[in-house]
Amino acid sequence: MTAPAVSISEQDTDALGGDDSILMRQRRDHARLDAMMNRYQAEDLPPGELDGLWLDIVQLVFSHAFAEETVLWPLLRRVSPDGETLTRQVEEEHQAINELIARIEHSPDDPRRAEWIQQAFALIREDIRDEEDELLPRLRTAFDDRKLRRIGAAWEAVRATAPTRPHPGVPRRPPGNALRGVPLSAFDRLRDLAPGSGPAARRASLAVAGALAAGGAAVLAVRAARRHR
Ligand SMILES: [Fe+2]
Ligand SMILES: [Fe+2]
Repeated sequence: MTAPAVSISEQDTDALGGDDSILMRQRRDHARLDAMMNRYQAEDLPPGELDGLWLDIVQLVFSHAFAEETVLWPLLRRVSPDGETLTRQVEEEHQAINELIARIEHSPDDPRRAEWIQQAFALIREDIRDEEDELLPRLRTAFDDRKLRRIGAAWEAVRATAPTRPHPGVPRRPPGNALRGVPLSAFDRLRDLAPGSGPAARRASLAVAGALAAGGAAVLAVRAARRHR
């Protein structure tokens, strides 16, 4: 029988393995997300700033979650008897967030957009609670401080190159999420460089993305040609 979990929100930095541990890194990101969502909901920001804040939230949500799916949840399934059930639940939450935010991004003029954004924020808050109260405490139980810091570094490295936009069609578990998600990260990050997303900016980013894809195809073609020599 597993001991009852003590939420990581109720433990101090030392108990969580120090500043660089995965648990402190998660808690900092969750607090940042929460603050950004509160600002989005509470303040009367001009539309330009509101759009920028929305983009910041989207980027943080998806890079953070992708690195969890790649690094943390497979580990949790290995060390915790209820890891399978707990991670499946969180992956379903991630999937619902992906679907909802994809719908929001694809329907900029839909009158239900504000309502969908509120739903997305509610789902993100639910995900944070499940992680801090149930999943992350189990990593604390399973690993010593040094290992928690190493997991933190691995998670951060994956997050730095993770996709930053919703991809509901990509599987939520490795290897499918890495095989199909990582190549999309370059395209996401190009889109992030043109946040205005007016037709001109969009065309420019698509042109760069197209050039990159063409470059990649060229490399593959050269490799294939070499193999056949
Ligand atoms: Fe998280
Ligand atoms: Fe999450």
